Amino acid sequence: MSMRLDKFLADCGIGSRKDIKKIIKSGAVRVNNSNASSPDIHIDENKDEVFVNGRKTEYEKYIYLMMNKPKGYISATEDKYKKTVLLLLDEKYKHFDLFPAGRLDIDTEGFLLLTNDGNFAHNILSPKKHINKTYFATIEGKILDEHIKLFEDGIIIDDGYKTLGAHLEILKSDNESYAEILLTICEGKFHQVKRMFEAIGAKVTYLKRTKMGNLELDESLEYGQVKKLTKEEILKITGE
Ligand code: URA
Repeated sequence: MSMRLDKFLADCGIGSRKDIKKIIKSGAVRVNNSNASSPDIHIDENKDEVFVNGRKTEYEKYIYLMMNKPKGYISATEDKYKKTVLLLLDEKYKHFDLFPAGRLDIDTEGFLLLTNDGNFAHNILSPKKHINKTYFATIEGKILDEHIKLFEDGIIIDDGYKTLGAHLEILKSDNESYAEILLTICEGKFHQVKRMFEAIGAKVTYLKRTKMGNLELDESLEYGQVKKLTKEEILKITGE
């Protein structure tokens, strides 16, 4: 397949299209044995070797980012009225056509996966896959040990659906009106965590996703920041 040199270098993470134009103009880019003088020459990403300042570049078609999603942004690529998580991305990621693989509510924080790999997203979101997702929540209401068994057995939410078994860990509870919990679910119904607590007469007052599969949110990420996931980290999500 053939593609423009500037697109290829952007996909390699060399910089924005504007930076790349400058780098090419400066004479720092070589394709095989010849200097590349223009951003619009075409190369074959499978055959040609491209060097920037003598160093060989590796082509990346697909990327996978972990975002620490802040409140106030929706997990979508476009919206007329609300800010989307894509607005938080650095310029260098803009041309990748990223989208969120999964959804967090506008007021939910934490681990959001962004990718441009449709097959991968489809795979991890498939209800058959049962990828675990862990959430930390603060709860207004009475949370007791007996709820652990209730959640483990599955709980009937407002539309009559019985959830699959979920693992509830009570981190803190005053047994009356306030609790902090971790809940691990293996499906992704709309507002699922909030609805599960509503079903037991409680209310989620803060929600943050802390883990997908076996991959924990990197707590050193500031809100809105992303980090590129390695192959090993991606496999931790899918459990393969
Ligand atoms: N469950 C919810 O209720 N909201 C989220 O954002 C994610 C899971």
